[in-house]
Amino acid sequence: ARLGIGLDVGGTKIAGGVVTENGEIVHRLRVSTPPGADADTTVEVLRDLVDRLRDRHPEVAAVGAGAPGMVRWPEGHIEYAPNNAYRGLALRRRLAEATGLPTVVDNDANAAAWAETCFGKGKGRDNVIVLTVGTGIGGGLVLGGALYRGQTGLGGEVGHIIVNPVDGHECGCGAVGCLEAEASGTALRRMGRQAAEREPDGPIATLAAGTELTGEIVHQAARQGDPTAVDLFDRLGTWLGVGIASLVNVFEPELVIIGGGLVQTGDLLLGPARTAYGRYAFARDLRPLPPITTAALGNEAGIVGTAALALAAAHDAGHDA
Ligand code: BGC
Ligand code: NA
Ligand code: ZN
Repeated sequence: ARLGIGLDVGGTKIAGGVVTENGEIVHRLRVSTPPGADADTTVEVLRDLVDRLRDRHPEVAAVGAGAPGMVRWPEGHIEYAPNNAYRGLALRRRLAEATGLPTVVDNDANAAAWAETCFGKGKGRDNVIVLTVGTGIGGGLVLGGALYRGQTGLGGEVGHIIVNPVDGHECGCGAVGCLEAEASGTALRRMGRQAAEREPDGPIATLAAGTELTGEIVHQAARQGDPTAVDLFDRLGTWLGVGIASLVNVFEPELVIIGGGLVQTGDLLLGPARTAYGRYAFARDLRPLPPITTAALGNEAGIVGTAALALAAAHDAGHDA
């Protein structure tokens, strides 16, 4: 079977894997992202991962990498990412030079969406919207069986649709009231900090004592039944549902898949998201709305998706043996 390498460049970790054309990972590696990693450091880390993966599987035919932010397609040029240090990184060219293999570079959430569509919950479907809800909110629009990337690859940024410009929060991208600013893990942490200040003896502040207040702490408090924490998830989920309603109004997908770290919070997030979606979606009483479901591939979607995109591109270019 043909093998591809998939790489996922995240803010805290960089993961890589050797993946079969059926989407199975046969070997995986993961390293921490060097803090404040610039372009050269990032390329070095990726080159090293590829070398180590190829030592195990020399027959690898192509390399794909996914990275957050604005990635020009098909050039694979990373213009900018709201939550990463580097700017203007010609990652596709540099990885292709470093490895000598056919290479593609795409937006991380596009890759995750493609993986879910080929091998996960979207299998066999042509019109799928995938949202990844984590530190940021990313997404991929699969329309008519293909990833829709916009004119130059910078489209599909569903985390930066504006849902709350009037009393919303500043986003990492500089705008105000983006979905990401209201419904991401970063938003949850911000709201958790404010709640801890308001209720210094409450469960969130108590759980956070002596450690850093993270979204995970808010999650713990909510699981213990703390009404304040549950309310924060309510707000987060409601904004998410508002965003999903707008996306469904525009694209009418067959289904909406939610992935990313925050899906692990389950109905705490998705309950209010479904309620808001059912309330705000266009013509909600006149049709069955496309269902919202959780992703199947978890945090390996990026690796699987980039490998699949790379194998497909190598095949199209006639690089197959
Ligand atoms: C970026 C997206 C990315 C998402 C998840 C957002 O802040 O704008 O491009 O897909 O984070 O990493
Ligand atoms: Na995207
Ligand atoms: Zn934004």
